[in-house]
Amino acid sequence: MVDLLLGLQWGDEGKGKIVDVFTKNYNIISRFQGGPNAGHTLIFDGNKNVLHTIPSGIFHKTATNVVGNGVVIDPVIFKKEIDNLADYNINFKTKLLISRKAHIILPTHRLLDAASETLKGKAKIGSTLKGIGPTYMDKTGRNGIRIGDLELDDWKERYNTLTKKHLKLLDFYGVDIEYNLKELEEEFFNAIELLKTLTFIDSEEFFNQALRNNKSILAEGAQGSLLDIDFGTYPFVTSSNTTAAGACTGLGVAPNKIGEVFGIFKAYTTRVGSGPFPTELFDQDGETMSRVGNEFGATTGRPRRCGWLDLVALKYSVQINGVTQLIMMKADVLSGFDTLKACTSYDYKGEEIQHLPYNIEEDNVTPVYTEFKGWKKDLTGLNNKADLPENLLNYIKYIEEFVEVPVKIVSVGPDRKQTINL
Ligand code: IMP
Repeated sequence: MVDLLLGLQWGDEGKGKIVDVFTKNYNIISRFQGGPNAGHTLIFDGNKNVLHTIPSGIFHKTATNVVGNGVVIDPVIFKKEIDNLADYNINFKTKLLISRKAHIILPTHRLLDAASETLKGKAKIGSTLKGIGPTYMDKTGRNGIRIGDLELDDWKERYNTLTKKHLKLLDFYGVDIEYNLKELEEEFFNAIELLKTLTFIDSEEFFNQALRNNKSILAEGAQGSLLDIDFGTYPFVTSSNTTAAGACTGLGVAPNKIGEVFGIFKAYTTRVGSGPFPTELFDQDGETMSRVGNEFGATTGRPRRCGWLDLVALKYSVQINGVTQLIMMKADVLSGFDTLKACTSYDYKGEEIQHLPYNIEEDNVTPVYTEFKGWKKDLTGLNNKADLPENLLNYIKYIEEFVEVPVKIVSVGPDRKQTINL
């Protein structure tokens, strides 16, 4: 079966750490959507590594890592990731397989991303500017260049045709974006040479064959459910399906091959970039979460917006994804608060509702909170459920009852070891 590990909020839930913890249970770890807009942080043995495109199983000896067809790859960032892992002596040729159907981010996709954001002015999405949106636009527009094209004789012609079109589009946008295409291309083609030394596969065949051989597969989501192109807070979303269904189309496995759906959420909420965030805090509590939780983007370094847990939004994500088990991250960050709050309904235009409305604006949605007693105990050194403070267990119990799915793991720090089974 293919198990899924998905973020249930606006990304940055800590998926990298949990995939890393889970890897020993799986033969294959895969990515099915997104690209280097993701930043999965893994901390072990005193080292910190941030992965953007490479699946988080790369540090384990036994797992094969596959970049699925639904992913978009920037060769330049990919090369940097591989170069950064030089000390680990990983055999990338055998441990990292790439779908021929994955699309390539060209240098001009990044320029188009920047131009499009600039033109949006105040309505900008807060994109990571990695060229994700324009690459998926070319994919659905049937203009894209795929990894498998690198094996064809005419791929450079295709590259030139698409780049020419992008330059015309840039002209049409008429915004001042500074760039040196020659330098960008030099870096790009250099990275392509490295990419070509890796193993390209027909990943849908690979996965289905693996399933026939009873191999276990974990699909690692990127971003979060509320950034899903269809079900997120559109238009402040990313350009792929980050939810469970995206794993089927992004890997080529049928829905009846999906097993467990692990849903991962922070004990509070964060968001980077623009867009609605009903429980966002602008006070001391939000600052405390930001400081204690070290809430800065792993890809862009931008400060993350912080707020209380939004259970209405969490329940929505659980429902869309068919989550079977929950994993709560960063419970340690909430130690020290006298009172915790969780949003349990919205006041939407004067009416109390318990679902995510179509149009969430700052002035039409007010969160209605339920309060919980906090705890003072430092959780970061704990290993057992029995040591967890009663008030944390009460908070967890309330969440489980609200969303009707059990919380199976609580994370109390960034290290692999700081993970408690409930
Ligand atoms: P894009 O996918 O880079 O265009 O960004 C679109 C929106 O998704 C922006 O608000 C980004 O901040 C957000 N976003 C993209 N990737 C991530 C991620 O991995 N974690 C959190 N937010 C992300």
